[in-house]
Amino acid sequence: MALNPTRNDLPAKARAAMVDLLNARLADAIDLALQLKQAHWNIKGTTFLMLHELFDKLHEETEGYVDDLAERCVQLGGTAMGTLGAVSAATSLSPYPTRPQSTTGVVKTVADALAGFGKGIRAAIDAADKAGDKDTADLFTEISRGADKGLWFVESHLQ
Ligand SMILES: [Fe+2]
Repeated sequence: MALNPTRNDLPAKARAAMVDLLNARLADAIDLALQLKQAHWNIKGTTFLMLHELFDKLHEETEGYVDDLAERCVQLGGTAMGTLGAVSAATSLSPYPTRPQSTTGVVKTVADALAGFGKGIRAAIDAADKAGDKDTADLFTEISRGADKGLWFVESHLQ
């Protein structure tokens, strides 16, 4: 996809690579946000309130990642691809199961989604660094730290 003109001095080749990478991880982040709401709404059991609130808090944090990834993409001359169709085609996360799940099943689904998201983001740190875009690498690093923390919160319910 052709880049929009910008005075940003990063080489066009690096910006083009970062736009693609940011859009790939944007699709994951939007999918993750939707999965967290799905879990927030449908969780049941004696730990309902704790998990209902935890999933909503993680959703809110993920919405922050979504906005940061999309806006960095546009700052580099790209087009942020956040439509339902684009996200559905590009996400690397496993689909959220539509069958009813136990409380533990929901927690495992959310942990899997967070882990999958975190894995992609961690790989993106190195890719951005190698492309010479320290700022995008820094954004991915910040998000990665948040995703790791979220995974810790969720996995603690599985022990
Ligand atoms: Fe709610």
